[in-house]
Amino acid sequence: MPAAVLVPAAGRGERLGPGAPKALRALAGEPLLVHAVRALAAAPSVGLVVVAAPADAVEQVRALLAGVVGTTALEVVAGAGDRQGSVTAALAAVPAEVDVVLVHDAARPLVPVALVEAVVAAVRSGAPAVVPGVPLSDTVKRVDADGVVVETPERAHLRAVQTPQGFAADVLRAAHAAAGGGPVATDDAGLVERLGHPVRVVPGSPDALKVTHPLDLVLAEAVLAGRRGAAHEAAALHQAAAVHPQEAP
Ligand code: C5P
Repeated sequence: MPAAVLVPAAGRGERLGPGAPKALRALAGEPLLVHAVRALAAAPSVGLVVVAAPADAVEQVRALLAGVVGTTALEVVAGAGDRQGSVTAALAAVPAEVDVVLVHDAARPLVPVALVEAVVAAVRSGAPAVVPGVPLSDTVKRVDADGVVVETPERAHLRAVQTPQGFAADVLRAAHAAAGGGPVATDDAGLVERLGHPVRVVPGSPDALKVTHPLDLVLAEAVLAGRRGAAHEAAALHQAAAVHPQEAP
């Protein structure tokens, strides 16, 4: 049974400045959401992508993504007022027989296919919840409401957590059902932790960066340019080997 991926994409993206909803802002001429969904649909273990779109853009998003998913099934639903609600809405569109569900932010357009596959594999190997994590460069302080530091957690024990996060489908459903009315979590693993399930961390990727501030778009453009450069170089080497096979390494 292929995995389903939920893509919350209904945020306004105000930290990126005025303009279209964040998921529809352009990166190298295409919306962030198109990049993200293309990467998810290219993952062999993914059979269904469910996007939670801004409520006034559901039809626009459906048309935008129709040619992007190939043979992977696509559903587009209306998102909600916060990320958690948008994920809950997308989860309701997943058929009962799907056993592994991932959640991936549209704001992480360049997620590597290998990371998607690693998360699915970790869930299938028995982990109820899996998150990609990367070590931090900055030291992190916990502060009180007055901005006074109350704690400096040891940096070696901290991870910046990315998406896709992966779950046994029944665990994610139970976590969202239990969350109703409680404080809003900024990620889905946070809801699962509240139920007492262990959450396993797998190595994340710098390419899975989240576009939040204008500078993140510059970084994402650079990642994309680097990939295109590497692809051209590989194609040129391939062509040279075909023309001069005796010189190929
Ligand atoms: O705001 P933040 O950067 O945490 O958003 C993470 C993801 O959640 C983004 O892909 C955004 O589009 C989505 N989101 C949503 N519905 C909201 C707010 C955010 O789907 N109401």
